[in-house]
Amino acid sequence: MSVLEIRDLHVTVETDEGTTPILNGVTLTIRTGETHAIMGPNGSGKSTLAYTIAGHPKYTVTSGSIAFDGEDVLAMTVDERARAGVFLAMQYPVEIPGVTVTNFLRTAKTAIDGEAPSIRTWTKDVKEAMKHLRMDGKFAQRNVNEGFSGGEKKRHEILQLELLKPKIAVLDETDSGLDVDALKIVSEGVNRAKAQTNLGVLLITHYTRILRYIHPDFVHVMVKGRIVEEGGPELADRLENEGYDRFLEGELEPAVDTEA
Ligand SMILES: Nc1ncnc2c1ncn2[C@@H]1O[C@H](COP(=O)(O)OP(=O)(O)O)[C@@H](O)[C@H]1O
Ligand SMILES: [Mg+2]
Repeated sequence: MSVLEIRDLHVTVETDEGTTPILNGVTLTIRTGETHAIMGPNGSGKSTLAYTIAGHPKYTVTSGSIAFDGEDVLAMTVDERARAGVFLAMQYPVEIPGVTVTNFLRTAKTAIDGEAPSIRTWTKDVKEAMKHLRMDGKFAQRNVNEGFSGGEKKRHEILQLELLKPKIAVLDETDSGLDVDALKIVSEGVNRAKAQTNLGVLLITHYTRILRYIHPDFVHVMVKGRIVEEGGPELADRLENEGYDRFLEGELEPAVDTEA
């Protein structure tokens, strides 16, 4: 079993207005085999958490810790984190001109495993994973994400997940921009990875829709860089009905004490 432990994490980013705090004390533990959903309004810091786990240089950890199986993740480079088994599916996957999907996947697999995969099984694995995700074989020869539709980019993220076999996957709004059919296909990919490798999942989402296909064990609500509520799947149902208003009320009008 592996465990990712985030403790009292504070993160800032440099903006035009100077150093801005984004995460204000996030504590979260994800074990392999568990699925955690992080939900919250736009701008609450969900992607910042994802990028900080992955090691994006733009985000500065000012205090707190992230440990993976007891090892200090914050002391690791981005590729060391990937080799340790931490995977990020980005909200906005980037284009890599001049690098084909097939080269990208093979290079990533070789870097993560420390040796090149055997050509025979690898070609078969790639073909099979692409078939499952209903990706045309032609994608293999295209440049990574170049001219891909939103849905194609998300499928390519899950293709990586299935082939690289991480221990913990952070999926940042993998559901955004997908129609119902694509959402199902992508969710099935995540569920296959969960079943095959006992993957731990940190599923970041704004909407509850994807939780009908990928069932969370735990739901956390993030508002303004903090986790303000935690529960089981029933919390997602409540958010589906009520939205995030009750967490943001203080912002709209001053709180009034009605209990006289
Ligand atoms: N690289 C960045 N530069 C400037 N501001 C940023 C950057 N990343 C995040 N922020 C700010 O941090 C806040 C949280 O953003 P984000 O983590 O993307 O939230 P979410 O994913 O929950 O929508 C937002 O106000 C956003 O503008
Ligand atoms: Mg985001």
